[in-house]
Amino acid sequence: MSIDRPTAQTILITGGAGFIGSHLASALVDDNEVRILDNLSSGKRANVPEAATLIEGDLRDAATLERATADVDLIFHEAALVSVQGSVEAPLTSHSINATATLEVLEAARREDARVVLASSAAIYGHPEEVPIAEADPKTPASPYGIDKLAIDHYARRYNELYGLETVALRYFNAYGPGQTAGDYSGVISIFCDQAIDDEPITVHGDGDQTRDFVFIDDIVQANLKAATTEQVGTAYNVGTGTSVTVQELAETIVDVTESNSEITHTEGRDGDIRHSQADISVIRSELGYEPTVSLREGLKQTVEWYRQH
Ligand code: UD1
Repeated sequence: MSIDRPTAQTILITGGAGFIGSHLASALVDDNEVRILDNLSSGKRANVPEAATLIEGDLRDAATLERATADVDLIFHEAALVSVQGSVEAPLTSHSINATATLEVLEAARREDARVVLASSAAIYGHPEEVPIAEADPKTPASPYGIDKLAIDHYARRYNELYGLETVALRYFNAYGPGQTAGDYSGVISIFCDQAIDDEPITVHGDGDQTRDFVFIDDIVQANLKAATTEQVGTAYNVGTGTSVTVQELAETIVDVTESNSEITHTEGRDGDIRHSQADISVIRSELGYEPTVSLREGLKQTVEWYRQH
């Protein structure tokens, strides 16, 4: 049995000033030497725990990456251009950050013989034929972002086979929680919470019957810690809850949790919107012992509390 979290390691977290990276940093900083590489384009200095070292710079700069990766044992690669819409507008920029720079991270990890846990995405599946979605299901990404994430998901697994590098790719479904701002990812939960807190109309796109698997940040962190210590390398796992809710139900729950006077309104459906998304988590459950711990209602309570304070 492997232990469930890294200790006494030198760890690099790319994107460590962002939403997921900074939560990971907080979970690791007491027991490890944590270094963060972030260009602060969407991440914030205030998110970086005091005991971590921040290297402010761009992943795509070779000298910066070399400095950031010197003597590391483990890399969590969370830095990315996370906007799907942004990738549609600027596919080359998305590719250079989400794909090429990730390849540079894998090369740096080879030089240092470091393990890499990297952020893949449910976006690699595109419009699924059926839900829940299992890891082996067809991958037909619908955006440049999804294509770039699929490329790095493949690279990570092949780097294990070709070069013996220890890699684990985590395919995040819809992550949410405290610290997620419209700046780094305008996820529906951050939008609805803002609207509900301000008693403004909640804007459900289309009929609201589309479904998503919303996974709370603590469980995203849990999956990363397990991926960092598992013997199952050269692998890729879904990270979700294994359940889903409709966007309409989500809106109603947020109104309830915030005790808001907001009306739930319906706008035009969003172009290219995926109808249903839900992770099959049986593989990560059995191979990594991952178990979602935070219900949607509980996660929303914590998230709303944070939005009220910020
Ligand atoms: C999200 C991620 C994407 C990730 C993918 C993985 C974004 C912002 N987020 O896409 O990075 O790779 O999951 O599955 O790209 N909605 C409303 N009203 C709003 C905003 C959204 O009804 O004001 C609806 C959307 O139409 C959609 C659902 O809420 O049906 C979720 O939207 P969003 O949070 O943008 O995420 P995804 O499109 O699922």
